[in-house]
Amino acid sequence: MTLIRVLFITTTIFLVTLSSTSFVNSCSPSDRAALLAIKAALKEPKIGIFNSWTGTDCCGQWYGVHCDPTNRRIADINLRGESEDPIFENPHKSGYMTGYISPAICKLDRLTNIIIADWKGISGEIPSCIASLPYLRILDLIGNRLNGPLPADIGKLQHLTVLNVADNQISGKIPPSIVNMVFLMHLDLRNNKISGQIPRDIGKLNMLSRALLSRNQITGPIPSSISNIYRLADLDLSMNQIYGPIPDSIGKMPVLSTLNLDYNRITGRIPASLLGGSGLSILNLSRNAIEGYIPDVFGQRSYFTALDLSYNRLSGPIPKSVSNAAYIGHLDLRNNHLCGQIPGGEPFSHLEASSFVNNDCLCGWPLKKC
Ligand SMILES: *[C@@H]1O[C@H](CO)[C@@H](O)[C@H](O)[C@H]1NC(C)=O
Repeated sequence: MTLIRVLFITTTIFLVTLSSTSFVNSCSPSDRAALLAIKAALKEPKIGIFNSWTGTDCCGQWYGVHCDPTNRRIADINLRGESEDPIFENPHKSGYMTGYISPAICKLDRLTNIIIADWKGISGEIPSCIASLPYLRILDLIGNRLNGPLPADIGKLQHLTVLNVADNQISGKIPPSIVNMVFLMHLDLRNNKISGQIPRDIGKLNMLSRALLSRNQITGPIPSSISNIYRLADLDLSMNQIYGPIPDSIGKMPVLSTLNLDYNRITGRIPASLLGGSGLSILNLSRNAIEGYIPDVFGQRSYFTALDLSYNRLSGPIPKSVSNAAYIGHLDLRNNHLCGQIPGGEPFSHLEASSFVNNDCLCGWPLKKC
């Protein structure tokens, strides 16, 4: 009995060792074929990052490719055009790559990270089949020339934590399915050609800490559900065509520290909650059509490194309570309809006239006497 067991175990160990050694210098043939198809669709003449993509072992020395050691399947593709990697020789040398991302990438169905970033010349669409990669956590395609829409069913990527397609030419709408990515922490769509509205139920993304949508053609209102995202620290909707009022509830978000809504078509008043201790340290509402008085609610919990309310339709005086703020580094009130004496004390003593010019009738230091 024991002898048979020992024999059995030895044989098993022998077979396992044999099979694993025979795998040591190879990788999944279908993964290898997919990688070669990806390589064939891209051209990178300057550095030669694909020179290493030869031979049978795509888990070995293939540049930017990493396998899961347990199953020897491709887990990461990490190709950055701006990198500290010695392959770039001169640290200031930056990569350039043309071609497109082959849909063959979707055959790598154990991928957790896809980083193909800052190559400047990669064009074509994001293969829509990417939405069916079940283990994907990071999709970072920043700094290429990708066009076409985001895949409509991108929300199927249930494990995605980072979606970064900034600095491309992505068009179309934000897919409504995006709100299903319940683990999404970092959404960066800046500097594309995205149009349409922000999904009303964006507030479902309750892991989100950065939502960066600036420099697109997004219209419609700011959904009030955004203020349900209690981890959101950085919201950048600047340089779009967003209209309507700022939801009051935004000023009550617990960790929001940067709010950039500049260069839109926002109307209505400034919610008092934004100024009187919301925890915001950067608030830019410049270049909108915001009206009414600046709420007189500054206090010890108002701490702004930058507060830019310039180029709006604000009227009335500069509230006296601004002097009660714990700190205001940069304050810009130019190009409004403000009137009356500029209060004394901090922060006014360190501000220049340019912060106050082009109002209806502001006066006093640093402008001329009343
Ligand atoms: C606020 O936004 C405007 C318009 O986009 C920009 O010109 C300005 O520099 C921004 N202000 C700050 C303090 O960053």
